[in-house]
Amino acid sequence: MSYYEITGGRPLSGSLAVHGAKNSVLPILAACLLVPGQCVLHNCPNLSDVSATLDILRLLGCRADREGDAVVVDASALSRWEVPEHLMREMRSSVIFLGALLARLGTAELFYPGGCELGPRPIDLHLSALRALGAEILEEQGALVCRGGQLRGREICLSIPSVGATENAMLAACGCPGQTTLVGAAREPEIIDLQGFLQAAGARVTGAGTSTIVIEGGAPLRPAEYRVMGDRIAAATYLCGAAAATGEIELTGVSPATLTAVLACLEEGGCVLHTGPDRIALRCGAPLRGISPVRTAPYPGFPTDAQAVLMAALAGGEGATLFVENIFDSRYRHVDELRRMGADIQLAGRAAMVSGVGRLHGAAVCSTDLRGGAALVVAALGAEGTTQVSELRHIKRGYQALDKNLRALGAEIREIP
Ligand code: EPZ
Repeated sequence: MSYYEITGGRPLSGSLAVHGAKNSVLPILAACLLVPGQCVLHNCPNLSDVSATLDILRLLGCRADREGDAVVVDASALSRWEVPEHLMREMRSSVIFLGALLARLGTAELFYPGGCELGPRPIDLHLSALRALGAEILEEQGALVCRGGQLRGREICLSIPSVGATENAMLAACGCPGQTTLVGAAREPEIIDLQGFLQAAGARVTGAGTSTIVIEGGAPLRPAEYRVMGDRIAAATYLCGAAAATGEIELTGVSPATLTAVLACLEEGGCVLHTGPDRIALRCGAPLRGISPVRTAPYPGFPTDAQAVLMAALAGGEGATLFVENIFDSRYRHVDELRRMGADIQLAGRAAMVSGVGRLHGAAVCSTDLRGGAALVVAALGAEGTTQVSELRHIKRGYQALDKNLRALGAEIREIP
């Protein structure tokens, strides 16, 4: 199994164009199923989760090809509606195909995505939203058999602003004649990006970014060309890396407005930030100071996906910071690995008290999940000595060329086969 070997203590410097957003391109690729024609997605990141999604599209009968930084999807010949269990297990976010398949074909069969490293990942809100639109969904031994029946638009209330349930309902509603109103919708920037793609394809969707989204469904969609937004969580990761290692970096291709909560924490910790419409420059000359409590929350609150990487930067800083993880039940699996690098972190349920130790030390550590693995890389950049980070498959789900990009910024990191 390959691993990253990182020698810490090298300040970062330089400019990096951030890749397209994983959590935006995945639902947009599912949305391509709604279009009986060819769609072109620019700024599509080269990630294993994206490759897995393209495999599912091909298996359903679509053409899906990468052409440079773009992906071309043609769903004209969409003919199948089953997503096999092994692919569902490989990537739980494939549940997003449910709404799109129901909208286009009136039928879908897939399997319960099951839990993942972050704990149970229920889909009850997805199913209740689709049933509200008229879908009949049978659950048999872990399989979901969905029939569109008489899909019609209506008002749907989400009890939790679930990102995936909001996206699934938006896609299903595009195939429902009449008006659908999503109340209590998630407000994440990735949902605004999905709306942007749907509008480019001729769908009548408005309100994304607010908690009420309105879809006038039933009209056929047309081929669209669209540029995916920059990945705000990848951006947060590189910024935390520069905070851990110190130095001065510039990120381009990402809007600072999509990660204001993260930027505020880094500024409070002592970083100097300068931003433009699609650029963020960070200068950090000393280890991060402790900051006010970091409570993860739905957007525009502090994003749960940035919790681990910020914790890693603070663990090697000065002072104490309290984290409270309010979104997922098991999102502190990186803590044990950070402790192996000398981190002082006390856990109590959803709370984690991080006491900066001034500098972490290198160790052999193991990625536990996508963002937890990235956090170990962040910690290693500022640590004394050399760190080996293994189980890279987790990291490669969501980061394109992480080692190459960090080397270009001056880090001493290489992948050892
Ligand atoms: C999306 O996951 C992201 N994934 C996650 O990013 C992100 O952490 C999460 O949103 C929150 O921002 C993608 O976009 C592919 P949720 P999703 O539904 O949609 C509960 C990463 O690292 N819930 O907003 O699955 C759920 O258990 C990944 O890139 C229900 O109870 O997240 C959680 O506690 C990790 N019932 C909360 O809602 C449901 O039917 C928020 O989950 C659905 C969700």
